[in-house]
Amino acid sequence: MGLDYEGQWLKRQGYLRAFDLTQSGARCYDPRFMEKIVSLAKRRGFVFQSSEIYGGLNGFWDYGPVGVELRKNLKDSWWRTMVQKRDNVVGLDTSIVAHPKTWVASGHVENFTDPMVDCKKCHHRFRTDEVTGKQCPECKGELTEARKFNLMFKTHVGAVEEESSIAYLRPETCQSIFTQFKNVVVTSRQKIPFGIAQVGKSFRNEITPRNFIFRSREFEQMEMEFFVRGAESSHWYDYWVEERFQWFLSLGINKDKLRKRVHDKDELAHYAKGCTDIEYQFPFGWSELEGIADRGNWDLSQHSKSSGKDLSYFDEEAKEKFVPCVVETSAGVDRTFLVLLADAYHEEKAPTSEEGKEEERIVLRFHPRIAPFKAAVFPLSRKLSEPARRLEHELRQSFTTDYDDAGSIGKRYRRHDEIGTPYGITYDFESETDQKVTIRDRDTMKQERVAISQVKEYLAEKLKGA
Ligand code: GAP
Repeated sequence: MGLDYEGQWLKRQGYLRAFDLTQSGARCYDPRFMEKIVSLAKRRGFVFQSSEIYGGLNGFWDYGPVGVELRKNLKDSWWRTMVQKRDNVVGLDTSIVAHPKTWVASGHVENFTDPMVDCKKCHHRFRTDEVTGKQCPECKGELTEARKFNLMFKTHVGAVEEESSIAYLRPETCQSIFTQFKNVVVTSRQKIPFGIAQVGKSFRNEITPRNFIFRSREFEQMEMEFFVRGAESSHWYDYWVEERFQWFLSLGINKDKLRKRVHDKDELAHYAKGCTDIEYQFPFGWSELEGIADRGNWDLSQHSKSSGKDLSYFDEEAKEKFVPCVVETSAGVDRTFLVLLADAYHEEKAPTSEEGKEEERIVLRFHPRIAPFKAAVFPLSRKLSEPARRLEHELRQSFTTDYDDAGSIGKRYRRHDEIGTPYGITYDFESETDQKVTIRDRDTMKQERVAISQVKEYLAEKLKGA
């Protein structure tokens, strides 16, 4: 498939390296759209390639000034919904490196592997499922026999690099929730059913990171383990599948592009009773955003066996001791971020100041709750900087705002359309006399004149509930 100039440039810069366009061509039914998202993400400061000046590091990404705001808003929304608004879920923030026995007990040392093959000619590595039944994409060389490749990143703890000092960067955040279960029960006085939630970085040495931030080697997860009696797990599993689906809708994501996919029996881990993925129709096809799983009591039992510590729960009312079962919800921050970008992205024709003329505009129609900035203030001329800045500083105390005085007003509108700012506020020469500003709505592009003294209330009203 052909790449235009911008596509070539992105590929040279490494932004499209993860795509491996030849290889993923069959699945990638709209590669051009993905290129646009990647290009916008860089141009507007959402996502940069990690270590770009050194040629980049495949599978690692940095979030820019606009990206961190969006990322924070989405994580805050998750935390508010999953922890702060409930009285039966508490939070946790555990270390990235845990005792290595954790990963033996969880099965990761033994089983967290992907089958991998090497091309004997060009020495490229592939996941076996990516090349099965296909030709080796780059050079068509002969492939080695498949062998297991463990996806955990290894490191050493302490000054001596020896077998006994090996530790791992966590490949998922949930295992420390299990190992800290007893401490949380004792200190939080929560009674079953209750949950423990955590947001944090995870690391997987993916053989072929791909599709921009969809599959990377360092990423962030939002996980919650909900501890229940075995007899009640199916009820809570159904409950959490629905709750989690509703959360994605609450972010303004198009319902037609979201679906629930129930795992077939042969996809389930031996201890799991059920698993449902929430999937999104990405530009490269339907793919997983989050998994909700009814995992039985396997995790706590394994850690109890491995550590020799009792991780059972004592129900004081029923005078009964048991190892709780768990329903897990596990979502990716970066994948949700990509969905927010892809789902909000719109190209449309917009009228210009010239009568009857139209121009193409790109606009990110973010839900105001997650928009990086809620409003931006534009002085029509730098001569108006002082009062415009004063207004922006005042608004900044209540909303995340931006101040932009670079280029024509049209350019500034376009910049803020492209980062999804719901309201653009222009301070012009008339403002000096009538004490009003023009507020432009991102989606309708309608403009209204509002008294400066009322702007804060105006925004508060418009953003109510966001
Ligand atoms: N504790 C269960 C667990 O980790 P998972 O399906 O391996 O389950 C959960 O991961 C979520 O983490 C995925 O749905 C996805 O959103 C995110 N995720 C997993 N691997 C990822 C990667 N390499 N890059 C970005 N996100 C990833």
